[in-house]
Amino acid sequence: MGIDAPIGVFDSGVGGLTVAREIMRQLPEERMVYFGDTARLPYGTKSKDTVVRFSRQIVRFLKTKDVKAIVIACNTATAYGLEEIKRELEIPVIGVIDAAARVAGAVTRNGRVGVVGTTGTIESGMYEKALKKYNKEAQVYGKACPLLVSLVEEGWLHDMITEEVVSRYLKDLEYKSIDTLILGCTHYPLLRSTFSKVAGEDVTLVNPAYEVAMELGELLDKKGLSCGKGVAKEKKKYEFFVSDAAEKFCNFANSILPYDIERVKQINIEAFEAEETESLFVTAGMAGQAVSKRR
Ligand code: DGL
Repeated sequence: MGIDAPIGVFDSGVGGLTVAREIMRQLPEERMVYFGDTARLPYGTKSKDTVVRFSRQIVRFLKTKDVKAIVIACNTATAYGLEEIKRELEIPVIGVIDAAARVAGAVTRNGRVGVVGTTGTIESGMYEKALKKYNKEAQVYGKACPLLVSLVEEGWLHDMITEEVVSRYLKDLEYKSIDTLILGCTHYPLLRSTFSKVAGEDVTLVNPAYEVAMELGELLDKKGLSCGKGVAKEKKKYEFFVSDAAEKFCNFANSILPYDIERVKQINIEAFEAEETESLFVTAGMAGQAVSKRR
């Protein structure tokens, strides 16, 4: 694998595109393979075991693309699986929680930080743990917002109903006098204007995408893996894969990314189920190739 190898980025759906677009902006020389698990979302209401199993399958798929680093662009998968996946892989892996906690810990003035995210992320307590690392005094108030992922996937980004739902969820945080709110699900930055309107101008919203892309750039530099200018010129820059509804994903992606995607391929991600032995991994990899070849 050379420095011109792509970066693997994944999420349960379109949410991770908020991180992907920041990587495109900050690291324009880098290639990227994105996977959205659209057949099996939401992740936020599933058990840890299930989310870790799905994440492992995706990692196995990304490895067949010879990625040089992986970004888990999903808070739920980061909360449940980052440490395990890091341990299992020899390439750099980063998640999204640590960066968000670092920023929130630095920008809060009164030490009262709200976190909105999926049920899984909030119940995992990972944000609280990460925030305490950066700001010992911080009080963390979590609120699970399970309906929001579906509304984003549906494309209801600027909609009265979405605003009403956000208001209902934020009601619980209203009395906590928070001055900082972490958008702790990669789908939520797509609702940034709604969150900002409902939370009010005194509350600073934290979207970790910018810091995650920066952290990735620094990590690649440190490991000698950064792609130099023009190095990957002849190669395909960005590739997108999903487990279902490729066309819908493509339209959505084209509405938020700085580049137009021509094609999104659908693959059978279940074929990448982790097995006990290496020979079964090869079988899974071949099954995946067969699926992509047929399309
Ligand atoms: N975008 C994801 C996250 O950051 C997952 C949302 C979901 O599938 O529930 O948690």
